Amino acid sequence: MERLGLKKVEEFRTPLILNDQISMRNRLAIAPMAGLTDIPFRSLCWRFGAGYTVSEMVTSKEGFWSTEKSRLRRLAVPGVYPWSVQIAGSDPAQMIETAKKLVQEGVQVIDINFGCPAKKVCRQMAGSAVLKDLDLIERIVSQLVNALDVPVTVKTRTGLTRADDLGREAVVRAESVGAKMAVLHGRSKECKFQGTADYGKIRSVVEAVNIPLFANGDINDLDSAILVAEKSGPDGLMIGRGAIGQPWIFSYLLGEELPSIEERLVVMNEHLDAIHSFYGSERGARVSRKHLMAYFTRLRAPVLGKQFVSLGTPQEQTAWLRNIDVGVVESFSSSAEEVAIAA
Ligand SMILES: Cc1cc2nc3c(=O)[nH]c(=O)nc-3n(C[C@H](O)[C@H](O)[C@H](O)COP(=O)(O)O)c2cc1C
Repeated sequence: MERLGLKKVEEFRTPLILNDQISMRNRLAIAPMAGLTDIPFRSLCWRFGAGYTVSEMVTSKEGFWSTEKSRLRRLAVPGVYPWSVQIAGSDPAQMIETAKKLVQEGVQVIDINFGCPAKKVCRQMAGSAVLKDLDLIERIVSQLVNALDVPVTVKTRTGLTRADDLGREAVVRAESVGAKMAVLHGRSKECKFQGTADYGKIRSVVEAVNIPLFANGDINDLDSAILVAEKSGPDGLMIGRGAIGQPWIFSYLLGEELPSIEERLVVMNEHLDAIHSFYGSERGARVSRKHLMAYFTRLRAPVLGKQFVSLGTPQEQTAWLRNIDVGVVESFSSSAEEVAIAA
């Protein structure tokens, strides 16, 4: 298996071969984020150069498959390759059933979520809760690998607590039974999203396995991307919150200029239209608020984001945004504003 140990920005552009059928066009991935990385947003990230996208988590629990939410989550993003869907669960038989249905629909990579710290997920013994039971992780991965003819990958955290190394053990076990790639978020289950990601722990996993290992956590710009690459020497970088409100982070890390305010406004309008047509009126109006708030916050004009959030209908949203031009953004822009995006 091809290892890279990213150190320099130029290396982000190197394609990654997962097996004889599946490859990625570069080493930059958009992280799965439930409620954020839907089809409209993943399409945008792809357009701006992301080399790999993963669906938001689909639960393998019975009864959820036929819901509209699940259907929208697992759809293919037009023109995006490979088509990867993330599943969560702890019952290998049920997970195989879900994964087989996905593969029948054309899914090319199955990613398993062993990282989500949310109570709702962990109570079902899924996500990061499964780190408690490394034998179970091994059973799940091994049974899925044996049942499917597509690559199985895992995404996890450093451990249950800051002190343990269960994440490393989980990835080592997953590799030993056939996982083809892993992503490590440099925080523990207990940390949730607090503190900073531990890139030393990511490095220790990179050194412990031979499959490609993507580093994840707090990559928001070029400096943080280089820092993570230098500190953890991963095979790729996965970016989550750092892409919200700036999907051009991928093209920027791949060596292109940042878009101007005018160009950003064009993308924001296109993104809004895509959200409205994907979700329809009511849900579209709701989903668009998080994204537009983030774009304006990144433009240091959160006041405009707040104005957008107060609008009720998709028609009002569209009309309002069409009227925003560079002059309006500049008049509301304050360099003193925080640019951080809340999770
Ligand atoms: C709102 C939100 C939803 C998330 N949903 C998922 C998910 O469905 N599956 C998953 O593996 N990770 C999920 N994550 C975790 C991210 O994929 C990523 O590991 C985490 O945000 C750290 O990376 P970042 O600092 O680049 O955001 C989610 C994170 C956020 C903020």
